[in-house]
Amino acid sequence: MCGIVGILGQAPAATRIIEALRRLEYRGYDSAGIATLGADGIERRRAAGKIANLAGILASEPLPGNTGIGHTRWATHGKPTTDNAHPHATEKVAIVHNGIIENYRELRARLIARGRNFASDTDSEVIAHLITAHMEDGAAPIAAAEAAIAGLEGAFAIACIFAGSDDLMFGARRGSPLVVGVGQSEMFLGSDAIALFPFTDRVIYLEEGDSVALGRDKVVIKDKAGREAARATVTVQGAAAAEKGNYRHFMLKEIHEQPETIGRTVAALLDTVNEKVRAPEFPDVHLDRIGQLALVACGTAHYACRIAEYWLEQIARIPVECDIASEFRYRSPVPGTDSAALFVSQSGETADTLAALRFVRESGIKAISVLNVPQSSMWRETDAILPTHAGPEIGVASTKAFTAQLTALAAFTVALGRAHGTVSPETERALCHALIALPRAVAEALREERHIADLAAELSRAKSALFLGRGAYYPLALEGALKLKEITYIHAEGCAAGELKHGPIALVDEKIPVIVLAPKDHLFEKTMSNVEEVAARGGRIILISDEAGHAASAGLTARRITIPTCHPLIGPIVAAIPVQLIAYYTAVHLGTDVDQPRNLAKSVTVE
Ligand code: AGP
Repeated sequence: MCGIVGILGQAPAATRIIEALRRLEYRGYDSAGIATLGADGIERRRAAGKIANLAGILASEPLPGNTGIGHTRWATHGKPTTDNAHPHATEKVAIVHNGIIENYRELRARLIARGRNFASDTDSEVIAHLITAHMEDGAAPIAAAEAAIAGLEGAFAIACIFAGSDDLMFGARRGSPLVVGVGQSEMFLGSDAIALFPFTDRVIYLEEGDSVALGRDKVVIKDKAGREAARATVTVQGAAAAEKGNYRHFMLKEIHEQPETIGRTVAALLDTVNEKVRAPEFPDVHLDRIGQLALVACGTAHYACRIAEYWLEQIARIPVECDIASEFRYRSPVPGTDSAALFVSQSGETADTLAALRFVRESGIKAISVLNVPQSSMWRETDAILPTHAGPEIGVASTKAFTAQLTALAAFTVALGRAHGTVSPETERALCHALIALPRAVAEALREERHIADLAAELSRAKSALFLGRGAYYPLALEGALKLKEITYIHAEGCAAGELKHGPIALVDEKIPVIVLAPKDHLFEKTMSNVEEVAARGGRIILISDEAGHAASAGLTARRITIPTCHPLIGPIVAAIPVQLIAYYTAVHLGTDVDQPRNLAKSVTVE
């Protein structure tokens, strides 16, 4: 949603904050700003647009001081203008905020009645005025901040600094992540650990409801009950993940990392020597007692669930319901006594999915979560974790996290099937063998990159596109449409190939590219019949298939992308590679902002 940073440093804060904000820009980039403490109190620089605009202002109007806070915004309340950019400040305090204050209107009215003047349309500004009001009533800075957050309703992570108190910074989290960075007589606050890598790799993950008062050599954490609490200081890895290396975009780097990231996830979940799935370490979730599963997620993670639905029902013979998280709670699902829920989230912070997780656990149902970010909110609240090992994913469009999620879900399916007796030792060996071969198959699929880049030039001229698939390739068609539209802004639709003739085929003419996902499997012939229907109407077909599929469709007029012949279990994971490359190179041809597409954010922490 938004990225926040705070520094109590031993060197000028402003340029360091810019460096940290650049690492958080994937969280939102509608506007950015910095506040520091100078000789004359709080000074601010703010700019609409990306951090580069703010850096330009700082170059001509530098900010003094070694204490400061910064913010990069994804607008929720108030247009992305300079006046609405954080930090928000009064004469006594400056704050940055990630989240939504749900009672801000009532607070704003009360503060205006008290004579406070507001300069923005945001919900966040009330925090600065509320802290100021408590200070005017005699509270010391930290006590005033604690009193202010006690009066807030909603989700937030905040950082604030106080005029005249150069060695003091306050932070608090409720529903949005916040970490403390521990330096050498320096302290930091950040929305995630990546932002603080340039300064320190030692962090303290604040718990839900925690607040913290910092000095350069002091950390005082209070829990949600206001009691002082001890939290572990941990050393985090992954600094390298925040660099693009010699790739043009993070997204391309992350596409190319997939053989490695899938390999890491396979190694974590499988006993690769004996070709068996490790028993997931679920302290109080018994796989043999799960009789039905709800799969809940958003966006690309939801399409991973939709693919896993086929596996779970076909291999583990478990009935599955797949929901997008923002709908799940509101359809009043009726759980059975043997129900469990499985959540999938790259960030572990997506508000819709987190809210669904909380809803399920309040209903007494066990929650298993497939997560990529350790210590994320979902990581802390779920009953059992299936970790993916994709490393930090910076590109807003999810790629390596998606294939890591699928890998984990495939391994989970085998474990569940084994627990229910539907997967024999021989079948388990075969499925594990397929998963162990997956990284190599993905590496082979990447070899089509140049060919796809050439095809994408023509795609970039399309006004709309269709993706078709059957079976587990149908959800992959939905994911392909999402990938294309979210980074190229070309409208795209995924459709079950068998459904095309029931309406969507009206879209087909010689102008529309139709990307078909169809390896030579038991559904290939039926899909080819649908493809012939498209060809008969002039549709421009791009067929993603294996050698056998291309050979069997030799008479078809189509551009062809080849994926390696592989086990049916891993086919949809391998076919994700050309799907991702098609979107990526079409976006490159169009010159859109591949890593930070317009209107999007990497983690949507509002419902
Ligand atoms: C993926 O390309 C999108 N950026 C988006 O749909 C994303 O998958 C969705 O917001 C869920 O995010 P999460 O996995 O962090 O929960």
